[in-house]
Amino acid sequence: MAGVANGGSAKPATSARIYDYFLGGTHNFPADREAAQAVALRFPLTAALARNNRAFLRRSVRYLAGVGVTQFLDIGSGIPTEGNVHEIAAGVTPDARVVYVDIDPVAVAESLEILDNNARTTAVLGDLRDPESILAHPKVRGLLDFGRPIGLLLNAVLHFVPDDTEADAAVGRLLAALAPGSHLAVSHVSIDGQEVDRNDLNFVQNTYRQKTTTPFRPRTHAQIERFFTGLEMVEPGLVWLPQWRPSTEDPTDFTAAPPTSSCLAGVGRLR
Ligand SMILES: C[S@@+](CC[C@H](N)C(=O)[O-])C[C@H]1O[C@@H](n2cnc3c(N)ncnc32)[C@H](O)[C@@H]1O
Repeated sequence: MAGVANGGSAKPATSARIYDYFLGGTHNFPADREAAQAVALRFPLTAALARNNRAFLRRSVRYLAGVGVTQFLDIGSGIPTEGNVHEIAAGVTPDARVVYVDIDPVAVAESLEILDNNARTTAVLGDLRDPESILAHPKVRGLLDFGRPIGLLLNAVLHFVPDDTEADAAVGRLLAALAPGSHLAVSHVSIDGQEVDRNDLNFVQNTYRQKTTTPFRPRTHAQIERFFTGLEMVEPGLVWLPQWRPSTEDPTDFTAAPPTSSCLAGVGRLR
């Protein structure tokens, strides 16, 4: 079943289902749990990272809806969990439209199931590395008006596109399709300035490479900032997860030592 769920690939796990496991979800298989538990042995804070990443997603979507963005293109959206983009956005702007895109058929199927024919939100199968097919997808074109601002969400997905040329090209192509006033939100694993055991990092990278179709690579602050080239950064810029417009209702795992979140996050505005 996992092979079918992974688009027929022989790789037994997926990054979407590993992440679901870390968030306490139920849409994961033994291979996903095994991979997640192996990662957690080396990096025990991974589940906290996942929770804090979701908290950034909620804060950033609330921010975007607050500044008037009513349409969202969420690529690498994952398996639906508490506080989905369409729910957060609709809490601020009831007519919000959202398209979820993910490479994992399980994530897309689960999204469609919970959406239950929601007229303003849908989910499609797509690969960030092939932005043209996402932009041309009839459901994307049908729901989103590219003549008006769109919130492009690339949360915890670009580190699954390890090739810089491929990642830069994908982000650049997507941004080129957006109207002024659109925004890009990114969260991305980074170990900048931290003492991380290379063996542990290699182990995690090997786990993703061997068990999933989405190899994984952290980037530095400078490498992640490059995705925002030409955009105006929203305050406070590209910062560690808990530092991006913190809210008292969010988890506090990393508040005392933000770099230990191992994830940078930021939002930029297209002029
Ligand atoms: C860690 S989850 C992040 C989910 C959600 N964006 C969040 O921040 O909570 C990463 C997601 O990216 C998806 N993904 C990985 N590589 C992708 C690609 N090339 N194109 C689209 N989705 C991808 C995975 O299937 C997974 O659902």
